[in-house]
Amino acid sequence: MRGVPLPAARPEFMLEPAFDPNRDAGSSRDAIGLGQRVIGKGLDVRHGTLLTLEDISVSFDGFKALNALNLYIGVGELRCIIGPNGAGKTTLMDVITGKTRPTEGKAWFGETLNLTQMSEVQIAQAGIGRKFQKPTVFEALSVFENLELAQKTDKSVWACLCARLSGEQKDRIDEVLETIRLVSSTHRQAGLLSHGQKQFLEIGMLLMQDPQLLLLDEPVAGMTDAETEFTAELFKSLAGKHSLMVVEHDMGFVGSIADHVTVLHQGSVLAEGSLEQVQGDDRVIEVYLGR
Ligand SMILES: Nc1ncnc2c1ncn2[C@@H]1O[C@H](COP(=O)(O)OP(=O)(O)O)[C@@H](O)[C@H]1O
Ligand SMILES: [Mg+2]
Repeated sequence: MRGVPLPAARPEFMLEPAFDPNRDAGSSRDAIGLGQRVIGKGLDVRHGTLLTLEDISVSFDGFKALNALNLYIGVGELRCIIGPNGAGKTTLMDVITGKTRPTEGKAWFGETLNLTQMSEVQIAQAGIGRKFQKPTVFEALSVFENLELAQKTDKSVWACLCARLSGEQKDRIDEVLETIRLVSSTHRQAGLLSHGQKQFLEIGMLLMQDPQLLLLDEPVAGMTDAETEFTAELFKSLAGKHSLMVVEHDMGFVGSIADHVTVLHQGSVLAEGSLEQVQGDDRVIEVYLGR
């Protein structure tokens, strides 16, 4: 039952004729090879910007959920996105992951990948991982098996569980188990974990894909104080190696992790800066924080 092919080292989207990073790159982005900085999965981030969103608009029947939004995320940055309900936070993540197409605007991942022309699968393979609010682990499988499954591109459970792991793959799983503090639950059935532990496992499953950018929508909702504290530590330890974009309403949590906060309101960026800066901004107090 062996012989399941290992994931291709090269992302498959490179081979698809519909998407040509060279053709799709703007002329001002033409590389002459100087100052080029390439990170995981061949991503070119020579200007230190991992994600560039410019003039992004999304219309739903004429209603603008996003309205000429500009946002830049740096390599290794931990960014918090806050704002009232309906501000467009989830739509923003939908645009980045290809779930929703912008009606206008530019979205680049690194210098050369045009997100508006890539499918959801291509975007995930290029290194953007997303965690939804509700944990979606395989409850009947063990913690280890969940991580094993997340590592594979062939998602058929049977094929995955029958394939032999290389030493390197096993090491990576052990490393992630330590990162998410589930070493002592390695062989526990995922369905028996606490809500918080399931969240950590799902973050671990994302980490198995080694994404450059992690999008996390309200990650500490429903967590205990201790779990929330650990999540803050975890995110801070992941920043630097990965870039993180965290949508969260819990201002205590935001305060414990954020060095940079973006406030969304009516589909646009209302304010950006340190938490203290945005907390002192009258417009932010007016629409979100309250007096
Ligand atoms: N598929 C959709 N069709 C129509 N309206 C939508 C759709 N998705 C979101 N919206 C609207 O867009 C606005 C932004 O929603 P959302 O991005 O979910 O906000 P947030 O996550 O900040 O609460 C809301 O007014 C919402 O009702
Ligand atoms: Mg939302």
